[in-house]
Amino acid sequence: MAKVGLTMKRRKTNIVLIGFMGCGKTTLGKKISTRLGYKFIDTDKYIEKKENKNISKIFENDGEEYFRQLERNMVMELSEERKCVIATGGGIIKDAETMAYLKKSGIILYLKSTAEHIYRNVGNDKSRPLLQGGNKMEKIRTLMAERIPIYEKYAMVTVDVSRGTVSQTAKRIIEALGDRI
Ligand code: S3P
Repeated sequence: MAKVGLTMKRRKTNIVLIGFMGCGKTTLGKKISTRLGYKFIDTDKYIEKKENKNISKIFENDGEEYFRQLERNMVMELSEERKCVIATGGGIIKDAETMAYLKKSGIILYLKSTAEHIYRNVGNDKSRPLLQGGNKMEKIRTLMAERIPIYEKYAMVTVDVSRGTVSQTAKRIIEALGDRI
């Protein structure tokens, strides 16, 4: 008798990018989604569109806690999506419930960087409320020290993104994902 259905086809999962502000989640996410033929979703952009306000305005008018709630709601809304590269905001890891949803939805990929690399990318940026005012490098270092252990805790795969071109780094990310995708 013929054997039936012994090899179940694996359901293509999402790739969830976590990492500090300005590490390249959006740029690299777009690149790898194109290479893999996955859909690209950016949580910040999704929230801005839904709220019809930019992130700075949301922080200013409603506060960070409200923004974290919006992140949580959007992750729940995305729970049925598959074959997506999801670029998250750098602080998404602060909410355990949000992270529990993301862990169920796919592979958590941590884009690891250095304070110097981050500073080069966002040193002049005005759109990130948590980095405004005072000494930017100091703010980056302080927040990174708080968050690195949390990124590491959730990471299923880690890739150093502080060196190389976007194209080279995207290639290393796809290699690191290996047969998980
Ligand atoms: C934040 C990171 C930002 C954005 C918001 C808060 C954070 O996203 O979600 O400004 O807490 O680290 P990027 O990581 O895309 O800059």
